Amino acid sequence: MKFASDNNGPVHPKIMEALVRANDGAVPSYGTDALTAAAVEKVREVFEAPNAAVFLVPTGTAANALLLGCLARPWDTIFSAQFAHIHVDECNAPEAFTDGAKITPLGADIAKFNADELQTAISGFDPSNLKQSARGPVSLTQVTERGTLYSLEELSAISKVCRNEGLSLHLDGARFANAAAALGCSAAEMSWKVGVDAVSFGATKNGAMAVEAAVIFDPDKALEFRRRQQRGALVFSKARYLAAQMQAYLTDGLWLELAAKANASAVSLEAGLSDIDDVEFAFPRGANMIYVWMPRFRHQALVDAGAYYYIEQGLLQGDDPNELLLGRLVCDWSVDADSIARFVEVARGARL
Ligand SMILES: Cc1ncc(COP(=O)(O)O)c(C=O)c1O
Repeated sequence: MKFASDNNGPVHPKIMEALVRANDGAVPSYGTDALTAAAVEKVREVFEAPNAAVFLVPTGTAANALLLGCLARPWDTIFSAQFAHIHVDECNAPEAFTDGAKITPLGADIAKFNADELQTAISGFDPSNLKQSARGPVSLTQVTERGTLYSLEELSAISKVCRNEGLSLHLDGARFANAAAALGCSAAEMSWKVGVDAVSFGATKNGAMAVEAAVIFDPDKALEFRRRQQRGALVFSKARYLAAQMQAYLTDGLWLELAAKANASAVSLEAGLSDIDDVEFAFPRGANMIYVWMPRFRHQALVDAGAYYYIEQGLLQGDDPNELLLGRLVCDWSVDADSIARFVEVARGARL
């Protein structure tokens, strides 16, 4: 009953095997090896973007911060959702890697913002006012931090605002695969075809050990990214091990297969919990993450039975057993039907 995070899931055997295969003899370092070249080509192929600049980095924060470094000037503001990982979970890495750009958070509880909210926020920054931040890039997360999704139409509407305003659009795709699997669209359809300029393409949460691809569709940005990556101490010497993971992840559609499995687990978890009277879902589920309001006594029974997941207020302490607490349940690719069934059974069977 482990639903705390898809980061908690194991490495998929095919990726582990690829790491073992890559672990043979001496090969050139710092990304000059054949495996890195092949993995970069594979990312370009999946994105149908033969000229894209692609870099493999070990964390999602690195991908986000380096990409935003390429897109934002130090005096810019970056527009993002108020719950965006770049805003609340990266300890100012984007601000540091942009040499000072700040973040303007927008949108509601659902961790999404729409084109109108974006337009209003942008209009609050007057380009002729040199005392204010300048209008900078827009960053959105897909799947969002609340487990919701932007439809392709919503992405297009946001990118239209960006284009009209001359601002670039970054997508934090730590769960890109889960989103693509849920929407049934291609990587290209969820990125450059709807006007996205740069993607942090995650793999770690979906079966890799530690690798993300930073993808910029404007190849002229490649040199700047590489310089920033070096300056940021984020160039891996033994790059073959990053490449081996990405190569295996994208081979024979493994990335979408694992994401679809994780999403399906979340669907069945949601279905199992949905007929318990005092259980309510906080946000519409988009992919592999569910936010659920449950009374304290049900959370307590689950925790007592060994369930592991985040309870948003953080604490089970409190006097009122009926107080509703928000739980976050995330399914990784390896979650099995038994642990879902057990979780539902314990939640349903809890007694005051
Ligand atoms: C939406 C989102 N973006 C980025 C990241 C960055 O991940 P990392 O911990 O690998 O830096 C995470 C990780 O939890 C995430 O949830």
